[in-house]
Amino acid sequence: MSGPGPQDINVRDGDAVPAALSQSSPVYFGSEDLPFERYTSPAAHECEVAQMWSRTWQWACREEHVPRPGDYYVYDIDRYSVLVVRGDDREIRAFVNSCPHRGMQFCDSNTAGSGKQFLRCPFHGMSWHLDGSLREVPCRWDFPHVEDRNFGLWELPCDTWGGFVFINLDRDCEPLASYLGVLPEHFADAPLEQRFVRMHTQKILHGNWKMVMEGFLEAYHVLATHPNRLQLSGWANTQYDVFDRHVSRFYQNLSAGNPHHPRPLSERELFIEFGYDAESFDESRSARAQHADRVRAAMGAQIGVDLGGVSNSVLLDSIEYHLFPNACFFPGISIPLVYRFRPLGHDKTIHDILMLQPVPDSGERPPPADVVKLGIDDSYTTVPGFGRLDIVLDQDSDNFVRQWAGMNASLKPGQTLGDYQESRIRHLHQTLDSYLAG
Ligand code: FES
Ligand SMILES: [Fe+2]
Repeated sequence: MSGPGPQDINVRDGDAVPAALSQSSPVYFGSEDLPFERYTSPAAHECEVAQMWSRTWQWACREEHVPRPGDYYVYDIDRYSVLVVRGDDREIRAFVNSCPHRGMQFCDSNTAGSGKQFLRCPFHGMSWHLDGSLREVPCRWDFPHVEDRNFGLWELPCDTWGGFVFINLDRDCEPLASYLGVLPEHFADAPLEQRFVRMHTQKILHGNWKMVMEGFLEAYHVLATHPNRLQLSGWANTQYDVFDRHVSRFYQNLSAGNPHHPRPLSERELFIEFGYDAESFDESRSARAQHADRVRAAMGAQIGVDLGGVSNSVLLDSIEYHLFPNACFFPGISIPLVYRFRPLGHDKTIHDILMLQPVPDSGERPPPADVVKLGIDDSYTTVPGFGRLDIVLDQDSDNFVRQWAGMNASLKPGQTLGDYQESRIRHLHQTLDSYLAG
């Protein structure tokens, strides 16, 4: 890392950051080129579907997407389809979305709904209870070879963390709790189950899912791709950590100025750049601290949450945890994002973005926002509620069109990565290899 980074800024802030933010865990994974073929080859994609997507924990929906018995949500990942259902006993279960009779889907891909008393196949009308046990076979006499107890729905491992419902297509998988590694400990101060879905977009992007996701795993691209507000925040002083097999993190200071800018702002200039009146600047305190006070008060009132005990860093910074294979969770308050990346064939990606806002102190949890679907050419600026992030997301999306074209056009066989700033990309591929190797 170059220049004063998050740890230095935390010391300067002098407030109590969660213990996890005081940790750093850089890992060097080697410097060899990474073949473009890993992204561009349809055969590589097929291997991932067979060996990796079928064996990893993925979040399917939020618990509040299935709040009542009979609520369901369909999660699709490439050719696989999973039906998440809340049972009469309030348990959430996951079943393969395919009828044991002749394979009909119970519910259409990418749908959700409520009020199911049982699961009835639309083809011949066989039905199952919400716990997956067989309920009825029309013309039962024609199936003397079927035993009720062996003809339940194909149930999958299903568990929850942080208000997310996770599924795994592998019945022999490790438990979610061990798969998550440090995540539960690192989010102890930012319980995502205490948040609600304020916004949810789902956009189709050009390019392989790994290429797209990797554009969100490093801040090295900020200088060239997001030059708009470069005097406010650094990029080359972002911290990158790899904690365990499935979890890595970046930690980028926002609102602390930019030590690498050719003309770094003074604290007073930074304060004015935030949009405040120069008269109210307090020379004895950093611009970031004064900005944090104002954000704490204004945002706290707006969202109905007392943010008095939230550190400057959790309030303002961009802190992103990646959970292999395809999810990112941000514990921050100003940047409360969740990402999910899913392949659409080998050359397109479905990118889910959730804004997870803390539930108001009143305890009233608003219902989750409906999904806004964006086509491949649609701009994030058409969706209200992103603030300044919409432009940033458009800049990232535009990159993927060119990067995908360039990856396919390359005669150089592989990409050459930075040892530190792009270490999370290598971590991703190392973990992926471990699944592909069986
Ligand atoms: S395919 Fe489902 S009842 Fe026939
Ligand atoms: Fe970006």
